[in-house]
Amino acid sequence: MIQPPADCSLCGLCTGRTNLVLPSGDLRSPVVLVGEAPGENEDLQGKPFVGRAGKILNQAMEDVGLDREKVMITNTVKCRPPENRDPEKAEMEACRRFLDSELAGRRCIVGLGKSAVKDLMDYVGPMAPVVNTRQYIEVGGERILFIPTYHPMACVYQKVAREELRKTLRMVKEEFGL
Ligand code: URA
Repeated sequence: MIQPPADCSLCGLCTGRTNLVLPSGDLRSPVVLVGEAPGENEDLQGKPFVGRAGKILNQAMEDVGLDREKVMITNTVKCRPPENRDPEKAEMEACRRFLDSELAGRRCIVGLGKSAVKDLMDYVGPMAPVVNTRQYIEVGGERILFIPTYHPMACVYQKVAREELRKTLRMVKEEFGL
């Protein structure tokens, strides 16, 4: 895996950064969950999904009996956007070389929410029609299964999103024997 250098300045997000947020979990897992971008807690701790969204993700994983340490978790960009705004296309593009190196050779990539789905599947539109469909994306010259699903924060007020996210996690647990 190629990691950004500690002083990375490939995009403007570096100016607000406390820490780069690099992948966590099983770094050799066949399954990778890709979120949007670090939030405040992630920026402070340098780890993905350790704040409110992380709690929701942890609960969904616990609900289906998927151990968080059995998958790798990362984000489209490694630095926190100001005010937690969505990462811009240019920012995702600048960080894409690192994401691609994290994803190469995996068996399944789960896109958590709109930004990951936009970055990796090049899809912009409502999530409902694509959630839990089986897509294939090319990473490092290889076709890899890509499953779009809801971001944990979308589950706060939407029971349907919560159920669909659980469905995704149950599916990868069973299909990849995690
Ligand atoms: N939301 C994300 O998409 N990623 C994180 O790491 C935290 C919150």
